[in-house]
Amino acid sequence: MKHYENFPLVPIARGQGAWLYDFDGKRYLDAVSSWWVNLFGHCNPRINAAIADQLGKLEHVMLAGFTHEPVVQLSERLRKLAPAGLGHCFYGSDGASATEIALKMSAHYWRNNGQPGKTQFISLQNSYHGETLGALSVTDVALFRDAYGALIAQQATVPSPDWRDAEPGESAEAYALRCADLLESHLQLHHAQLAAFIVEPLVQGAAGMAMYHPVYLKRARELCTRYGVLLIADEIAVGMGRTGTLFACEQAGIAPDFLLISKGITGGYLPLSIVMTTDNIYQAFYADETARGFLHSHSYTGNPLACRAALATLDIFEQDDVLSANRAKAALFNCIAAPLRDHPKVRNFRNTGMIWAFEVDTPHADFARRCFSLALQNELLLRPMGNTVYFMPPYVIAEDEMHFLVGRTLKILEILA
Ligand SMILES: Cc1ncc(COP(=O)(O)O)c(C=O)c1O
Repeated sequence: MKHYENFPLVPIARGQGAWLYDFDGKRYLDAVSSWWVNLFGHCNPRINAAIADQLGKLEHVMLAGFTHEPVVQLSERLRKLAPAGLGHCFYGSDGASATEIALKMSAHYWRNNGQPGKTQFISLQNSYHGETLGALSVTDVALFRDAYGALIAQQATVPSPDWRDAEPGESAEAYALRCADLLESHLQLHHAQLAAFIVEPLVQGAAGMAMYHPVYLKRARELCTRYGVLLIADEIAVGMGRTGTLFACEQAGIAPDFLLISKGITGGYLPLSIVMTTDNIYQAFYADETARGFLHSHSYTGNPLACRAALATLDIFEQDDVLSANRAKAALFNCIAAPLRDHPKVRNFRNTGMIWAFEVDTPHADFARRCFSLALQNELLLRPMGNTVYFMPPYVIAEDEMHFLVGRTLKILEILA
């Protein structure tokens, strides 16, 4: 709160498309999709209409012992869209709860299968999977963990295939394969205790948009199968088309044991998360004894308004052929962003799908905060992580808005780099 003395909160009155407006009518281009959730712009008429329609029918009913049309439709549509074999949906309310559900369900799966010793997890270095206690145990960000160290189970990490860490001359693919070998060494030693490996496919968002080669996921899938460890793909940030395919796992041609979806699934409108899993996992819980079942509930699980927003979001993907349109948009943005990529103070300019990131050589230790503040003065919402600036715009961003984003960012670099 003290920081707000120098960086006051920005009160937002309304949103339209890629723009947010404050109470004085000042506008801000939402270049981070309001923490990576917004896909089709603020106040999207099609999503608004779907929610309004649902509001007139059923705002909410508990999902225990009851069900409703939007949640059934959404589950069936996701089953068709997700990698093969992920036919079951478990609903939660936000990203961290999806992580909790997948961790609990994977350990419980082994217990139900007569292997109660498999209770440990591994994640990648610099991973981020949410900030509840279970999710923090597989989140490797000291700033978020340290204060709660005594409360968090200690879990191991394995090296991240982030290509920025490759040796000079080593390709992203070769580095990813080297990291996969290190994953194998860990699995060889510890598989008897391991319930699951949780991973952010292709892009580790909170690690500073660390990007890596899909071959890592392919190898991770093979290794997890070979060593009897479940694979959890956390697509909370990278799913819903963000990396260029509807789900990032598709680029590696793999199906995980658990697929976590949240953020963009409702187009950025309402909190919702879904843990998709396989029939194999489902069957391990299918029993008369209640204790074998998976007991995990949230009051607003599978909220009908959120499910309708999600269905409207999937309609837009289908009707507008969003994935193809985004490929063209990304190519265009890469051309427009060339002056940034070639800027002498910019390093590691990178792009995956509709995510761009780069490091800035800056003399300012508090670059992130200064950049955020200067961006606001320049009608931009940017939230750098350390000296990493990233763009994760809503998919509706137009060509003139791309020019605006790049032009204003260059202006900011003139001052801060
Ligand atoms: C990869 C990943 N997993 C989990 C989460 C947690 O989601 P939520 O903030 O909805 O709890 C996030 C949030 O940024 C994320 O990026």
